[in-house]
Amino acid sequence: MSIINTLKSRFASALSPLTTNTGPLLEMIRSSQDPKFGDFQANCAMPLAKQLGKSPRDVAAEIVKHLDVSDCCETPEIAGPGFINLRLKDDWIAARIGQIAGDNRLGVTAADKPRHVVVDFSSPNVAKPMHVGHLRSSVIGDAICRTLRFAGHKVTSDNHIGDWGTQFGMIIYGYRNFLDAAAYRKDQVAELARLYKLVNQLSDYHKATAGLPDLRLHLQQRQAELDELNSNVASADRKAKKKLKTQRKTVEDTRSMIASLEARVAEIAADAKLLAQANAHIDIARLARQETSKLHAGDEQNQQLWNEFLPACLAALNQVYSRLDVQFDLTLGESYYNPMLADVVSDLRSIGLATDSDGATCIFIDGNDAPFIVQKTDGAYTYATTDLATIQYRRHELNADEIVYVVDKRQSEHFNLLFRTCQLWGLENVKCQHVSFGTVMGNDGKPFKTRSGDNVGLESLIDEAIARARLVVDENDDRREQPALSPDERARVAQIVGTGGIKYADLRHNRDSDYVFDWDKMLATTGDTATYMQYAYARICGIFRELHVDRRTIADGQTTILLTCPEERALALQLTQFDYAIDGVLTDYRPNQLTSWLFETAGKFSAFYAHCSVKNAESPELRQSRLILCDLMARALSTGLALLGIETADVM
Ligand code: ARG
Repeated sequence: MSIINTLKSRFASALSPLTTNTGPLLEMIRSSQDPKFGDFQANCAMPLAKQLGKSPRDVAAEIVKHLDVSDCCETPEIAGPGFINLRLKDDWIAARIGQIAGDNRLGVTAADKPRHVVVDFSSPNVAKPMHVGHLRSSVIGDAICRTLRFAGHKVTSDNHIGDWGTQFGMIIYGYRNFLDAAAYRKDQVAELARLYKLVNQLSDYHKATAGLPDLRLHLQQRQAELDELNSNVASADRKAKKKLKTQRKTVEDTRSMIASLEARVAEIAADAKLLAQANAHIDIARLARQETSKLHAGDEQNQQLWNEFLPACLAALNQVYSRLDVQFDLTLGESYYNPMLADVVSDLRSIGLATDSDGATCIFIDGNDAPFIVQKTDGAYTYATTDLATIQYRRHELNADEIVYVVDKRQSEHFNLLFRTCQLWGLENVKCQHVSFGTVMGNDGKPFKTRSGDNVGLESLIDEAIARARLVVDENDDRREQPALSPDERARVAQIVGTGGIKYADLRHNRDSDYVFDWDKMLATTGDTATYMQYAYARICGIFRELHVDRRTIADGQTTILLTCPEERALALQLTQFDYAIDGVLTDYRPNQLTSWLFETAGKFSAFYAHCSVKNAESPELRQSRLILCDLMARALSTGLALLGIETADVM
């Protein structure tokens, strides 16, 4: 158990004579920000005193009286209005480091109740190349799988690819009408992607031309209302001002929507070939949808095309995954569940959960305006139906205890309805969680796109990361008197720095926030980056090389750890808390809990290294103890980064 959790359980006993509701009070036991106040601080006496109507210092004294921490802490101190400050005994830290040094799990005990967790992540819609939008799910999901496994859980990573959606109808339509056979022979996936884009573009063109007149009218009306509001808003009425603001936003949004549709139309109109294609395929959107319906209904030719397209699409995905070192135990796409959908709907109907509504089959959930549609009026099943069948399969066939969905936060409404439906359906003994994340933004504060407004392809992004990383690696190695790396080694290091940089930059942010994609920050050799950690790791390996000490034999289990200066003690204390960082990741699936721990630890290591000489330590015992700390630091870096899917190299 991590030291913080040990302290919490000791406090739980100490608090129990005073209150029954200890939960929130235990949350108030934290690491102190300032060593002046010890290593940990408990601020629970103040709120408890309020509840009990006593003085906080008296309550603090009462808690301390019952608190048994003498094995690990110095005598607790009561400070200020009633803070309880705890300082770990140096002996305790030293002994704990001794244990961790001899443990390849760095003090993380395996879960006593292992769960089987299915992690649904990456899950792109196939037949379109992967783009930057797929990065977050792939990277966050992979880190979660690795950390769960490390903590002793059983994990099934499942890539729930969209291989049965409307994009196939579009590609089939494109294939029949616009195929460039030579290009298809040369690069099947690229040609399919072109067809997808073309059919999309032509459908959008018709949709835009059809919709624009109404939208312009709509804008006129909203503008007139706005003018009216403007002339009446003389009074400083807050409500009126608010209304004005909303109206202004409506007008602006409509205007920008019109502008973007006009741009789409103009793009086609400016290109004679595209315009001719558009005019020759006026009904393209409906016809493409029809191809999808035919595929779903088992049409032989469409089925055959689907079988022809899919392997190439999967191969293209796998290429990206192998570059990112992301693995899946299963890739059961949406198509896999197709045969189960009819039963799902009839089951939901038979228990009265799903009902008819305007010809569609829907589930109405209290408190939600939008119904959960499981079968559309044309008979088609939906994304929702597939997800319901998937949960049933994961629970009953895979025996999952828990399912984690690493999916964009824009789908939270869908998952909310999905999980509520499952409970009502009787699938309550599997815990489902939507691990949501925000958008990758460009420097302009808008979703990250290429200059021409296209999605940034994931392959080209990785290429660029590696190319940029190569410059960093070259520069670093060229600066040495004697370069340490051959061209092959430089290429290998550039690869781990490049992909590690992208991953770390993603993982270090709170997953719910959007973040700005910034090459320079991401590959900086100082700061909160993978590059910094990777170089720190190699530097520690370098210390051992220089001193001709074999890292593999250093943690001998005999050496007493000596904590002679504050920086040394601070580093050791930090290194005892790797287990707490891992708990932090798994509590709410937040890999940034681990990146912050790594960054903090690296900072403590720098301070230690600046103040405490390893080579010229005052005694052989101290040198040995310091080498153990160095080795432990290196292992914390490599193990921590590995859990994030990031590699390290001994020489960089
Ligand atoms: N293919 C979906 C998309 O690209 C994501 C699927 C997520 N997983 C799921 N079981 N719904 O939006």
